[in-house]
Amino acid sequence: MGAIAVIGAQWGDEAKGKIVHHLCRRARMCVRFNGGANAGHTVEDARGTARLHLVPCGALYPGCQGVIGHGVTVDPWVLTDELGGILAQGRSHPELLLSERAHLVLPHHRLEEEREGVAERLGTTRRGVGPCYADRAARRGLRLADLADERRVREHLRAARVAGDGFDPEQVVEDLLRFRERFAAHIGDARAAIAGALERGEGVVFEGAQGTLLDLDFGTYPYATSSTTTVHGIGWGTGISTARVERVLGVTKAYTTRVGEGPFPTEERGEIGDRLRTAGREYGATTGRPRRCGWLDLVALRYAHAVNAFTELALTKLDVLSGLREIRVAVGYRIGGQRVTGFPPRAEDLARAEPIYEVLRGWEEDIAGIRDYERLPSAARHFVRFVEAQVGVSVTFIGTGPGEEAIIVRGRR
Ligand code: IMP
Repeated sequence: MGAIAVIGAQWGDEAKGKIVHHLCRRARMCVRFNGGANAGHTVEDARGTARLHLVPCGALYPGCQGVIGHGVTVDPWVLTDELGGILAQGRSHPELLLSERAHLVLPHHRLEEEREGVAERLGTTRRGVGPCYADRAARRGLRLADLADERRVREHLRAARVAGDGFDPEQVVEDLLRFRERFAAHIGDARAAIAGALERGEGVVFEGAQGTLLDLDFGTYPYATSSTTTVHGIGWGTGISTARVERVLGVTKAYTTRVGEGPFPTEERGEIGDRLRTAGREYGATTGRPRRCGWLDLVALRYAHAVNAFTELALTKLDVLSGLREIRVAVGYRIGGQRVTGFPPRAEDLARAEPIYEVLRGWEEDIAGIRDYERLPSAARHFVRFVEAQVGVSVTFIGTGPGEEAIIVRGRR
């Protein structure tokens, strides 16, 4: 099976979890390389709905190890709660390996995000992820490997000078040491473990968090997250070269959503937006915030392909478009009267972009749960072919509903 990357092609929430989960049925490892508890991956299967923030979603399958690379910011409290929730659903304990080089999100990171107004200005998920990455870059972070040194942990918390900010540094130290005790056997050299699996020819799925348009460099800066969300994040966040990745699967919804602040040219604030939000259940998995909704943007999707070199696309939530008389798809922008086909690097320019739409026929039929491409109405198949032709990449997965079985698999598996 080799190495497969699953990368968000939009502003996150593309239903990557469903695709990753599907691919992990045959994989030995599911690897997270970026982000942290700001991510929210939902898996719906026979045991119920699991909302995961840090546990790689393939790790819900026994036999598939969940690996957290060093590029992930690890919040031990979130991880502990999440594991509790997984066990409460009657699932077995996921097999986990956490990189010893990963940085810890500590309570003062969340406070910092609020205090400095970043959460408000950018509409972040308030999970302390940005401040944790900032500490990492400033070379003052605490890594999982440091938990073995109690004195170092105490000094770190003391230096953070957060007493009086609503939490007790002593308690934080206690919690961290307990976490270390529980996970000691699962903290190690993640890079070597992944490299070993690849050497043995085992299947490895790299599970991207967020999406290309939220990437720190390629996204709509400063309305972005603070990690490398593109395929390049694999090298950045695990130490495995992207040259070893055979398939790069870009995941896009059949429309677009965005949470938080920042430009969104195809946003629909009226009836269409409300309809997409309701039909697509577009509320944040991490924060519960209603997502902004709008039409599919092929300018952005072509850009995501240029950045990631997708070998295939997964087109999710196609069923949400059922019942619309016509479906709009942006094929270009007009900025200041000029027609542009590229994705502008400045958020200010993107905010002025007026989409140029192609109008496609809709379909009345309910397509929920369809698993055979030929059973889709011809207008839905035309929509799929239109996306393929515009982006120049084949669509190999089509999502037709929230459940794990509601998927059309075309060509490669
Ligand atoms: P942060 O990652 O919490 O710093 O938030 C920065 C931006 O990324 C905000 O606009 C968030 O709404 C967005 N964001 C972060 N994680 C996700 C995600 O998993 N899905 C969608 N948006 C996200």
